[in-house]
Amino acid sequence: MNDPRASTVAIDSAAVAARVKSTIRPKIRALASYPVAKAAGLIKLDAMESPYGLTGEARAEMAAAVANVRVNRYPDGGGDEVVAALRRSLALPDEVALLLGNGSDELLQMLTAAVAKPGAAVLAPDPSFVLYRRFAELANLRFVGVPLRHDLTLDMPAMLAAIERDRPALVWLAYPNNPTGTLFAQEDVVHVIRAAPGVVAVDEAYYAYADASFLSRVLEFPNLIVVRTLSKVGMAGVRLGYATAHPAWIAELDKIRPPYNVNSLTQAVVPVLLAHAPLLAEQAAAIRRERARLATALAALSGVGVFPSHANFLLLRVPDAAHWFATLRDAGILVKNVDGWHPLLANCLRITVGTPAENNALLEALSRYA
Ligand SMILES: Cc1ncc(COP(=O)(O)O)c(C=O)c1O
Repeated sequence: MNDPRASTVAIDSAAVAARVKSTIRPKIRALASYPVAKAAGLIKLDAMESPYGLTGEARAEMAAAVANVRVNRYPDGGGDEVVAALRRSLALPDEVALLLGNGSDELLQMLTAAVAKPGAAVLAPDPSFVLYRRFAELANLRFVGVPLRHDLTLDMPAMLAAIERDRPALVWLAYPNNPTGTLFAQEDVVHVIRAAPGVVAVDEAYYAYADASFLSRVLEFPNLIVVRTLSKVGMAGVRLGYATAHPAWIAELDKIRPPYNVNSLTQAVVPVLLAHAPLLAEQAAAIRRERARLATALAALSGVGVFPSHANFLLLRVPDAAHWFATLRDAGILVKNVDGWHPLLANCLRITVGTPAENNALLEALSRYA
């Protein structure tokens, strides 16, 4: 009687499909789920994670912190200890407010939802992080993508003309940009912030690999929010992002935040990990060194062009991206084939910088092929 299979036999799948069709928005039905490649057994150079795990001491401290978590209770709603630890590590002045997200992608979605007035537009350079467009579509907003120039820098006349024409409620600037690795010129970013009629979100997911940031300038403009994540600095698994801005912006975003969005395990672990700042800084420095070595070695391969990168990945143009992707996969290495995402990315691969051994394996596989 209680066999769950008994009830499923009776379901009329056609009736369910009809109900889904009449209920779910057509725009959602037309979408595909965000693809996440399976990487078991592969050298994983596809998602801009740090290749470095934790050392013994930090691991033990993390385990002890997790062991003490009272999982029968909801987490602290505001994540106060994490907020305090982040504020300390960033030396954030009291006047700047900070809000936590379950990964920065949750903050991106919250910010998009917050500006979703009927007819409003969201603007971003194109190509850029795919979720800017996706979240705008989900919120029934118009998405305006402004093509980058061929060298992947901002096309400022086009950006300013689009801002004037579309009056976007929200402008995204990934700084540095994904999937190109480009760091837009600081004066161009300032120009966009000043020209934008709504809010500008500078997304600094890759801050650890660039020498520039708007974090210390967040109160210099009335319409600037800086969003960051711990995902690219060795903590992708804990899912923690943060937004910093004038308290008036953060107060509005906080109304959209689900009450317990950052779970107790994350809240326990993050202060412990942040206390290991020197280790994390050394890992970031090692990745920057490897980025330079890898860029030089890849550029020496025949037919390969490497774009300058200020992030922990490299964008390269190869003679045949699909073939190179498959060859690397056969060699046990997973990268991202971004060909087809945008005309500017034709025959491009995005490759995350790995450990020296992983990067050597990549170079070896490519030199055999190229
Ligand atoms: C520019 C940019 N912003 C935000 C994110 C989302 O990061 P997370 O949700 O892991 O914090 C990414 C992830 O790749 C990214 O490239």
